[in-house]
Amino acid sequence: MSRRWGIALAGLLACGPGEHAPSPAFERARTQGSAAEREWRTYLGDRGVSHHSPLDQINRDTVTGLELAWSYDAGEASEYDVSQIQFNPLVVKGVLYGASPSLRLFALDAATGKELWSFRPDVDPNGWNPSRGVVYWEDGDDERLLFGAGPHLHAIDARTGVPVSGFGNGGRIDLREGLGRDVSGDLMGVVATTPGTLFEDLLILGGRVNEIEGAAPGHVRAFDVRTGEMRWIFHTIPQPGEPGHETWPEEAWKTAGGANAWAGISVDHERGLAFVPTGSATPDLYGGARAGNNLFANTLLALDARTGERRWHFQAVHHDIWDRDLPSPPNLVTLERNGVSIPAVAQLTKTGDTFLFHRETGEPIFPVREVPVQVPGLPGEVPAPSQPQPTRPPPFVRQQFSLDTVTDYSPEARAQVISRLENMRYGPLYGPASLEGTVSLPGLDGGAEWGGGAWDAETGLLFVNANDVPWVLRMVQLGEDTGSLSEQVAQGYLYLCGACHGLDMQGDAGAVPSLIDVDERLGLLELYRLIRDGRGRMPGLGGTLEWWQNAAITWWVYNARPEDVPANWAQSAGDSQRFGNAGYQKLLDANGLPGAEPPWGTLTALDLSAGRIRWQIPLGDYAQVREAGRSGLGAENYGGAVVTAGGLLFLAATPDERIRAFDKRTGEVLWEAELPASGFATPATYEANGRQFVVIAAGGGKLGRPSGSQYLAFALPETH
Ligand code: HEC
Repeated sequence: MSRRWGIALAGLLACGPGEHAPSPAFERARTQGSAAEREWRTYLGDRGVSHHSPLDQINRDTVTGLELAWSYDAGEASEYDVSQIQFNPLVVKGVLYGASPSLRLFALDAATGKELWSFRPDVDPNGWNPSRGVVYWEDGDDERLLFGAGPHLHAIDARTGVPVSGFGNGGRIDLREGLGRDVSGDLMGVVATTPGTLFEDLLILGGRVNEIEGAAPGHVRAFDVRTGEMRWIFHTIPQPGEPGHETWPEEAWKTAGGANAWAGISVDHERGLAFVPTGSATPDLYGGARAGNNLFANTLLALDARTGERRWHFQAVHHDIWDRDLPSPPNLVTLERNGVSIPAVAQLTKTGDTFLFHRETGEPIFPVREVPVQVPGLPGEVPAPSQPQPTRPPPFVRQQFSLDTVTDYSPEARAQVISRLENMRYGPLYGPASLEGTVSLPGLDGGAEWGGGAWDAETGLLFVNANDVPWVLRMVQLGEDTGSLSEQVAQGYLYLCGACHGLDMQGDAGAVPSLIDVDERLGLLELYRLIRDGRGRMPGLGGTLEWWQNAAITWWVYNARPEDVPANWAQSAGDSQRFGNAGYQKLLDANGLPGAEPPWGTLTALDLSAGRIRWQIPLGDYAQVREAGRSGLGAENYGGAVVTAGGLLFLAATPDERIRAFDKRTGEVLWEAELPASGFATPATYEANGRQFVVIAAGGGKLGRPSGSQYLAFALPETH
């Protein structure tokens, strides 16, 4: 073969069968890229989850000049108005990667917002599982995005948007496989919501699983980035012979679920350590069938990133019966103590605590006390006798609910909430769920949440945006399984619908509608189809229910009246020890505002070395509050902050459709802009063409706010 032909053939082969060359527009966008640390090449900034950027073109002095540089409408917001975008975009070599509400992955020119390519995964377009980001990996010409959508992890060519054929099965792997248990029958299985984290050629990954009985186990795995093969697995629900097995009933490992790492994993590359925060074991609020501390649920795990072997662990909640998952990816921080620099890891909790450990040894930086708790659980429940609490820093949210904590928003609101409390339980942090309802402050969505903390090494501050609203943990007693059809159908409602729509079918006065009188709004066939196909954040059950099971539930829901609903549950319950969750509900006043005194959401700067709160401010407002001409009361918020060398903290996350820039030293708001929908996501900041941008996905669709589909990038005006 002549040399010329040989070269031409080699060129063709390098492209590989079925793979394409990047477009000219893509190549042009690349010329605008910057050095890696001046872009945003990793979810939440870096593998230590700092949320930090060294950029300072936008700073305390210039920030007021920020204006919209470009916007990109990804389209596909759900026609039913509850889609979301929780995506933290990446920017690599001048190209921005994002995802639409229905998880279409796309590449944009980071300087202009022009679309370069797009990839649509095969997921239910009404899928209610968001994706929070994507992972970029490169080796020479091989540039990949590892993208979780539904139960699949995809490897996509970052230059073209085409699946990488050599990865898994035609470019993707199914996360429901390889767990040592068949989870295909489960409604949710395993879903990749938060992206994994790289260590060399391994992607270390957790996932979201169901919260009910029968959920998949949350084992943590590492996959080969090149082939998709599983390289190690760590059993978060230990098997016989593995440490921690003794903290469960003997056979529980075969059926127990949860203990999953859904919030994200951080990696200390130098030390070869992965820090993995896990969630509670399932079912969430009743642990009668899982007596014991339930290691490694609610645990910060330090694993050998190369092998998955456990180096140390810390369980933040023993035998969790409150759904107190570790909700945020751990921040790798450096503390100064007595003149010594300590490599530490900070773990935020839903209850508003910050646990700090030496990364190598797991030694707490501030002493952790086991606080005795005496809680009368439901029958058959054995609550843990003590729970860990850090001596410092102080909690960044309130940790108990009392009559003194009841809302003072207005005299009417106060009276409404006090009357709702008459038959409920409330008090300190560790009141277990009850048949009457137990108020938990903070609630099931934190405290801290998936947005996590932003770490600024320059000031030694960790910035945490948190929720501070009460929820009601309410259980219902289920009858012995007599097998009668009506009971089965009623229990079907409880398991499949009740957690969202409530035992009393009243919804949550916010995002989840009441089902009372649903017959006046929907026809029978419409209801049947809704249950089959889902809508917005309501999952379709078509793949789970036989048609006749759906028909039975449809008929039951259609005909149920408020007065006969409770009777269905009490029926033949006797002294059975089976309990179900009667819904994830907030304690609200008649305006739909939280039943505790404001502030209902805060932004806190924690001085980690000193273990102190440096400053704290209310964050955002609810629409009802603004409409009433008030402000500054704080609101629930979802999504994290970005901190910069320019002295700023960028944060959206609030239900008032705004993104703000705060002075990181004081918490003062220096700039804010209105968004087309709330930005329940973490922004990114990057440099392209020498210009600093701040980009946020405005997806709305939480806290009763309208959905949106735009990405908006802000920058200082171009000077020509
Ligand atoms: C994960 C939470 C969740 C579960 C589980 C769930 N739903 Fe829903 N449901 C919702 C949400 C959220 C909406 C509102 C959707 C929207 O705004 O489009 C909704 C809407 C509905 C509606 C429409 C109400 C109206 O007035 O238009 C009906 C009817 C309904 N659900 C019935 C059910 C039934 C029956 C089940 C169980 C088989 C069920 N849902 C399970 C969250 C859920």
